[in-house]
Amino acid sequence: MEVVILGGSRPIGKLAADAIEKLLLRKPDAVLGLATGSSPLPVYEELAGRHAAGLDFSRASGFALDEYVGLPDGHPEQYRNVIRREFTDRINIDPANVHSPDGSAADIPAACDAYEAAIAAAGGVDLQLLGVGTDGHIGFNEPGSSFASRTRIKSLIEQTRKDNARFFTSLADVPHHVITQGLGTIMDARHVILIATGAQKAQAVRDFVEGPVAAICPASVLQFHPHATVLVDEAAASALKLADFYRHTYDNKPSWQGL
Ligand code: GLP
Repeated sequence: MEVVILGGSRPIGKLAADAIEKLLLRKPDAVLGLATGSSPLPVYEELAGRHAAGLDFSRASGFALDEYVGLPDGHPEQYRNVIRREFTDRINIDPANVHSPDGSAADIPAACDAYEAAIAAAGGVDLQLLGVGTDGHIGFNEPGSSFASRTRIKSLIEQTRKDNARFFTSLADVPHHVITQGLGTIMDARHVILIATGAQKAQAVRDFVEGPVAAICPASVLQFHPHATVLVDEAAASALKLADFYRHTYDNKPSWQGL
């Protein structure tokens, strides 16, 4: 796991966008794993700018990490609409190649299996963007999620509903159920970039980067990922024991290495 401590959201967005741009230049039909939440927004902002300057997404495809269950089609907080609004409508990716779990499917288990099959048919995710919840969740894999889990329905912990209530009129409007790629699904991505900013993430970052690998902290599974990059600002890094080591390592990294 590589930890990079940066001065704020802007440099984090640029560095993650550099990795995505490099990937697209090497592999124009790359498969991107797309996250919602505020953490990846600087990356989408940066990529929209690079698209305006010529970066081509026409052969790329995208798979959203998760989705609420039961929100009516067209609801602004349906993650499929958030991903479109914040990112894919701002670039030239083919809308037919942007996929989300179907939170209004009549047969949820079948929809989850179909989602896994669609990711596999696309060749797997090349680069997965992630945020992290204050309880250490990734996607919507709450504490206790199996490290082997695949796309499935989950119940949200009350803290996550409270954290996400800012996007809804009231806490009562936040769904209790979601569909999320499993931890096993996320671990299959070839490269994972997790972004965390702000002091409210400091404990979760400390727990998943330097704590034991345990289901109580789902993001800790990334310690087993062969290519996981963690981009944090100073506030989110403030509880890390080895912060100086991570800074020293990144500052002295050979330039040919990239992320
Ligand atoms: C939600 C999403 C996660 C996201 C998390 C953190 O629960 N399902 O994918 O990582 O929120 O959100 P934020 O980046 O806004 O802090």
